[in-house]
Amino acid sequence: MKKPIADHAARFSEIAADYDDEQNSEEYEACAGLVIRRAAPADTDTVLDLGTGTGAIALALAGDAARVVGRDVSDGMLERAREKAADAGIGNVEFGYGEFRDPQYDGEAQIVTSNFALHHLADDEKREAIETWAALDGGGTPARSDSVGPRRIVLGDVMFFEEPDPEEPFYSPEVDDPATVGSLVEMFTTAGYAATNVDRVSDQVGVITAERVVAGGRES
Ligand SMILES: C[S@@+](CC[C@H](N)C(=O)[O-])C[C@H]1O[C@@H](n2cnc3c(N)ncnc32)[C@H](O)[C@@H]1O
Repeated sequence: MKKPIADHAARFSEIAADYDDEQNSEEYEACAGLVIRRAAPADTDTVLDLGTGTGAIALALAGDAARVVGRDVSDGMLERAREKAADAGIGNVEFGYGEFRDPQYDGEAQIVTSNFALHHLADDEKREAIETWAALDGGGTPARSDSVGPRRIVLGDVMFFEEPDPEEPFYSPEVDDPATVGSLVEMFTTAGYAATNVDRVSDQVGVITAERVVAGGRES
């Protein structure tokens, strides 16, 4: 991580009031739209949205899911997310403090989402985060040994399809640390997931959909 978590939290709290108005790029819109579409929760699912910010993904999924839990390190962004939920009359979302590698959530999560946020972590930290998500309670039946792991993880983020180019949007080397698409897919594979979709939004923005691997009729 190029900056401590507290620095990221403070930086986002400062811009929380204007954050939504500034997310008007085609790439952000496309990435968020794909994360929402690929998450596709059932009405019985709980979604855990990490790096939730002002709740763009969490609030959009609340209508389809049973429950959405948003976690972030920035109090200012979380406060804005709560205001938006209240203004929209959305009651099945809950926002609170949580970090990618320590979401501070011990309930069930059938689906994990994260949009435009994980690139703040270094690659070894991203790997730890993905392994943490894979070990969450996916809400299966313990008797079937499939209670470990959400069934789907959807990661939209800055990621490199080509050589890193700081001249292109969304990559500021002083604060961002994006991974290559190949590294992220390998991290999901190692954690017991198969990348079932890789959507290329631009050379430096994409969405990976990863599904928990099912082997021989039993989920891993
Ligand atoms: C660019 S915003 C994206 C917000 C939202 N997901 C969206 O699509 O608009 C990145 C968010 O990641 C959060 N963040 C940064 N580092 C984090 C960490 N280690 N754990 C959890 N959230 C983090 C920031 O506070 C910020 O709200």
